[in-house]
Amino acid sequence: MLHDADILALLTDRRPGYSLPRDLYTDPAVFRMDVDRIWYRRWLFAIPACEIPKAGNHVVHTVVDHTVIIVRGDDGTIRAFHNSCRHRGSVLCKGEKGSRPKIVCPYHQWTYGLDGSLLWARDMGPEFDRRQHGLKPVHCREVAGLVYICLAETAPPFEEFAVEAARYLAPHDLVNSKVAHQSTIVEKGNWKLVWENNRECYHCAGNHPALCRTFPEDARLIGNGGNGLAGELDAHRERCEAVGAPSEFRMAADGFWRFVRMPLLGSAESYTMDGKAAVARPNSSFPFRNAGALLKFLYPSSWNHFLGDHAIVFRVTPLGPTETEVTTKWLVHKDAVEGRDYDVSRLTEVWIATNAEDRTVVEDNQRGILSPSYEPGPLSNDHEAGIVQFQDWYAAALADAPALRTAMAAE
Ligand code: FES
Ligand SMILES: [Fe+2]
Repeated sequence: MLHDADILALLTDRRPGYSLPRDLYTDPAVFRMDVDRIWYRRWLFAIPACEIPKAGNHVVHTVVDHTVIIVRGDDGTIRAFHNSCRHRGSVLCKGEKGSRPKIVCPYHQWTYGLDGSLLWARDMGPEFDRRQHGLKPVHCREVAGLVYICLAETAPPFEEFAVEAARYLAPHDLVNSKVAHQSTIVEKGNWKLVWENNRECYHCAGNHPALCRTFPEDARLIGNGGNGLAGELDAHRERCEAVGAPSEFRMAADGFWRFVRMPLLGSAESYTMDGKAAVARPNSSFPFRNAGALLKFLYPSSWNHFLGDHAIVFRVTPLGPTETEVTTKWLVHKDAVEGRDYDVSRLTEVWIATNAEDRTVVEDNQRGILSPSYEPGPLSNDHEAGIVQFQDWYAAALADAPALRTAMAAE
């Protein structure tokens, strides 16, 4: 079992421009530190708000040991609470989602309002103060139709991201959307391998035949190499900006989020096998169909693709040192009718195939890293600069932790 100082040494001694040392992808102590210092401290994407459109609609999101209820209140506000009763701790909501006017504990029926206040508790005596036993809140923000939570007592800054997310997503009407389909897969790989795979398209030509019909693998399109492409790229962004859709590459100073809008190959309209739109009733305001894709990532929990006709949101959740859950949701306009405006299999086939292909390469990568012969290998400057960016963010995020800061100071 590694100690904090060992992990710090792995981070500070890692070879720049190379994949990470094995322990960072496999060791239980590293995983525990990732969870405590990153997953329990950072803002995480949880759900699209349209998934809980009415008061009392709720979902349960589990982040390792934390189980969180995300519920829409009678006032329309979405809030998040720890899914643990203030009596003796029972979980309150057992299913993944549901709808209820109040939150009633299954054990002794303590009853909470949708705002988390304790409304009723039987025979607790005259001294009992209900106001001291409301549900414990979890930081929760809804921005442009997407809900984010933070499990830390004091949440890190979120405002700059919120402002940019509202600006970039303004043409995409996620508030008036619905989940047309969702899939959850478990990849037998460390969450950082899932991200490293996401942050490069070096693997795309050899693994993603369906995606490569419309997704350009050139890393310069998303600012992952070189200084960007002139011509086609600039023309696309200018065309989108002219209709009020922010499109330029923009990344947080500390690298934990990024937005950029890119054209699809051959002026394709969507991620479909023929490149034509998958949804006849779009959930964006673009006056043309070939709006490309707005790409967003928010470390450590999500990457998204916002297209002219629909949006796809991906959520990453670590399950263990070598196991990661990836949930994908396809969002279409709430008034789009299945069978008339879209066909679910046509809407989802490219990314269902792509997710399965990515699972295979991530699992192959993890198994190879577990081999005693593994040593960190060199990254391609042209194609894998996104991995370097992710690794730098990761190292800084862990180093932010007090334990590592102390260890660093002692070096
Ligand atoms: S544990 Fe919830 S009412 Fe007893
Ligand atoms: Fe991929």
